[in-house]
Amino acid sequence: MQITEEIKKLKKEKNAVILAHCYQPVEIDEVADFVGDSLYLSRMAAKTNADIIVFAGVHFMAQSAKLLNPEKKVLLPNEKSGCFMADMLSIENLKEFQAKHPNIPTVCYINSTAEVKAQCDICCTSSNAVKIVKSLNQEKVLFVPDTYLGKWVEKQLGNVEVITYNGFCPTHLKIRVEDIEKMRIKHPDAKILAHPECHHEVCKIVDFVGSTKEIMDYAQKSSDKEFIIATEKGVVDRLQRDSILYNQGKSFILIKEDIICQNMKWNTLEDIKFCLENEKYEITVDKNIFDKARHTIEKMLEVV
Ligand code: 13P
Ligand code: SF4
Repeated sequence: MQITEEIKKLKKEKNAVILAHCYQPVEIDEVADFVGDSLYLSRMAAKTNADIIVFAGVHFMAQSAKLLNPEKKVLLPNEKSGCFMADMLSIENLKEFQAKHPNIPTVCYINSTAEVKAQCDICCTSSNAVKIVKSLNQEKVLFVPDTYLGKWVEKQLGNVEVITYNGFCPTHLKIRVEDIEKMRIKHPDAKILAHPECHHEVCKIVDFVGSTKEIMDYAQKSSDKEFIIATEKGVVDRLQRDSILYNQGKSFILIKEDIICQNMKWNTLEDIKFCLENEKYEITVDKNIFDKARHTIEKMLEVV
């Protein structure tokens, strides 16, 4: 039997669901029940009736699924799948940052640990960050850990000071203004689409800025034929696959070769099979912070 068939059989036997982020190796889509960005997957995690959730993504995503499903078993196929940005902010650093700016609400990007979430007022993802900050109706807001997403939100709103922690995504920061300029010369008719984790100067000069799913939706709905993608390679792989599958005649080019999040690429089909067979690696969250961290995510889901 093919490995994809074996995984599907295991899913049925164990009443399991597989959620996959769109930066995952593209072949994982074949066994996934839902594929999308962090917000979409959080919503799906909150709704599922399955007994087991396999999260093909990185640790903070699986941990968020666990927070939304205390009674369910949540599994991460490969233990190495962390997130550099989430690991940049410790609880001590967060408390220090908040102490420096007292009496200001803190918004945490979902790319953070459960401990950090428990110490914040509300969570957000890249696709709802603007709406979440706006919903607080404050003149000043603290934003952690991603300084680039925080400052991008500030620019979109224009009337809120967003004070950011200095975290960042090393993969997105590899994309430079020169890369955009080079691509504009090489592909003058192409639309350039970027993730808000990119540098401000990059976001300023592209045609569209959005979450991974927003980028995919934009490209699919657009009547343009050529697109340069300034985010992780998984998005390009999926767009290219769908263009061939649905005969769209569109072409998608990764802004440059090495825009790959290694953390997202650890998970393989073999890991998913092992994970379902052995019910490993189970995500647990310290009970002292569980409810507070869950509340931070639930508040986000109530707003958008
Ligand atoms: P999305 O919120 O767009 O899914 O992005 C998550 C992420 O980790 C981007 O680097
Ligand atoms: Fe984290 Fe960056 Fe990878 Fe997203 S792309 S999971 S922010 S390291």
